[in-house]
Amino acid sequence: MKLREYRTSDCEKMAKLFYDTVHSVNAADYTAEQLNAWATGKVDLKAWDRSFQEHVTVVAIEEENGTEKVVGFGDMDGSGYLDRLYVHRDYQRQGIATAICDKLEHSVKKGAYTTHASITAKPFFLKRGYQVVREQQVERCGILLTNFVMEKKVVYSIESRRSIRKYKHDQVPRELIEKVIVAGIKAPSPKNRQPWRFIVVQGGKKEEVQKIIEKGIGREKTTPLLPDSAKLVKGAEYTLSIIKQVPVLIFIVNSKGKRIDVPITPEERVYEICNAQSIGAVIENMCLTAVELGLGSLWICDTYFAYWELKEWLNVEGELYAALTVGYADEDPVARPRKKMDDIVEWRD
Ligand SMILES: Cc1cc2nc3c(=O)[nH]c(=O)nc-3n(C[C@H](O)[C@H](O)[C@H](O)COP(=O)(O)O)c2cc1C
Repeated sequence: MKLREYRTSDCEKMAKLFYDTVHSVNAADYTAEQLNAWATGKVDLKAWDRSFQEHVTVVAIEEENGTEKVVGFGDMDGSGYLDRLYVHRDYQRQGIATAICDKLEHSVKKGAYTTHASITAKPFFLKRGYQVVREQQVERCGILLTNFVMEKKVVYSIESRRSIRKYKHDQVPRELIEKVIVAGIKAPSPKNRQPWRFIVVQGGKKEEVQKIIEKGIGREKTTPLLPDSAKLVKGAEYTLSIIKQVPVLIFIVNSKGKRIDVPITPEERVYEICNAQSIGAVIENMCLTAVELGLGSLWICDTYFAYWELKEWLNVEGELYAALTVGYADEDPVARPRKKMDDIVEWRD
């Protein structure tokens, strides 16, 4: 299954899918009279086409013998109202509705999404974090149908953040970089130690540091500091290629950090772990603020493949923990999957 943008030539197939789905999938929750009023079989194709064009409309496609079959579709208007969402009756429970909703919610960037969900669709939306605002009766061809006004409020930057690996050449104004850092340092830290330091690298200095990282990765291949991580060196090279195209690279240093090649006591380890947590919080604040400022970012730890080289080049107290690329995104990746709640949460009441 693949998702693509709507084309006018899809409209008739979508109208047919709508009719078939309503009369089969929704039949468990509505009477025949209600289904006939809901999907009469007479769709105004011109009006549908117009609204699909005005909205963000996503069509789910299956390739069958070289031809495209429409197996689902959904559309959302600019206010975040999810207007229609239908999946072919033979393609239910395959994640198609989820994929369509993910795409629509990601495309229409809003703090809240609404929909009028049928009785059948209500559990699906509840699972997606929508809540029932009210139950209502809508009239279709003189017949009343029950549905639910549902709403999902989201923290927009958390929902929209992605690791961005393709950037435009445009420079990022210094005020925006400062805003990203200011948001970072609002993070909590143990005993308010604020162990973080930032080194913002751009232009000629970034070119210099790219060579340093390149040198480190080369050295890692022959004299590795991290021999067990040899299989990840290719990934580090890819990360370097991303660093090369981004306008801004920010190094985040734990000024109290201990060298990774020297053994430490349990107390020192606890100190390190606590400081490390606050630096993680800093970086996440920075990533989320970047989203709010219309910027993309990538959190990078492949810097460890040039550990010695960067240590010497940076020449600062403490340890380099991570780098963050910041720039204008030139891609809009779909969300990477997350583990299911049941697999990661244990409730102990
Ligand atoms: C501590 C940390 C280190 C990471 N290091 C790298 C890296 O060196 N190179 C890279 O391409 N991505 C790196 N990532 C990005 C992850 O691959 C990414 O967050 C993950 O695949 C989930 O994708 P998402 O950020 O788009 O949700 C890192 C993320 C974290 C939190």
